[in-house]
Amino acid sequence: MKHLIDPTDLTVKEIDDIIELALDIIENKEKYSEACKGKKLATLFFEPSTRTRLSFEAAMMELGGNVLGFSSADSSSATKGESVGDTVKVVSCYADIIAMRHPKEGAPLFGSMVSDVPIINAGDGGHNHPTQTLTDLLTIKREKGRLNNFTIGLCGDLKFGRTVHSLIKALSRYEGIKFILISPKELKVPSYIITEVFEKNNIEYEEVTTMEEVMDRLDVIYMTRVQKERFFNEADYVRLKDTYILDASKLKNAKSDLSIMHPLPRVNEISTELDDDPRACYFRQALNGKFVRMALILSMLEVNV
Ligand code: CP
Repeated sequence: MKHLIDPTDLTVKEIDDIIELALDIIENKEKYSEACKGKKLATLFFEPSTRTRLSFEAAMMELGGNVLGFSSADSSSATKGESVGDTVKVVSCYADIIAMRHPKEGAPLFGSMVSDVPIINAGDGGHNHPTQTLTDLLTIKREKGRLNNFTIGLCGDLKFGRTVHSLIKALSRYEGIKFILISPKELKVPSYIITEVFEKNNIEYEEVTTMEEVMDRLDVIYMTRVQKERFFNEADYVRLKDTYILDASKLKNAKSDLSIMHPLPRVNEISTELDDDPRACYFRQALNGKFVRMALILSMLEVNV
């Protein structure tokens, strides 16, 4: 039985296969409409979510399956003191596959050690968010037509942003990707990413503090929210939260085929004036999340259509 806890739990070939399957689902939705008939997905969300939980649930419904679960720790027996391990063990009696989000790093990994069914990490603290990464890769594939040979700027909270950590781990395994890390010094990418991913694998990267100085070189800009919920100090959050606001003036020197991405939710990082710019793909990205999660569910349940 395979779990998805970290993006590197999937080989590049497995990721490419999931993306190809998602592309086929987009083209042939009817073909998959009963693929998971009789199967159940449990969504165990100990932390808030709009996109991840609802797209997982929509994905299972569009595959003809059923969903159960909870959307906050408050509505589960965690409030009575039940451990994550016991919760997962019990829910694995009721469902065929589990998507789990938790504020504590490592909680889904722990769950996977006691689960009788596959566990998908739907975001653990500031650590990883592998299904957002699959969403991002499908989006880049659809927008750019490829997953190699481009320069990506990752901008904002690179310290606590789990989507960034997972995306770097996955993309660094493709050829010719150059990473430009745009953040204030307080929110730089964790040092383990620098040593274990970039340096160990001789990946080209650069750290800068403004988006303006690199905008003309970017093929993709990936904006992120400053993760208020991970800060220990409210004053630091208030000081840093609006460091980067992408608006039309900042795109003056941008490429005409730049892809503007954001895992969402957005606070102020991208001005709404850009929403109708054809380069803005963050809402298309959210839609891709449903298709790639359909492909992931099929693949993890080993359902062949
Ligand atoms: N991108 C993402 O994880 O969004 P949610 O927190 O709404 O699930």
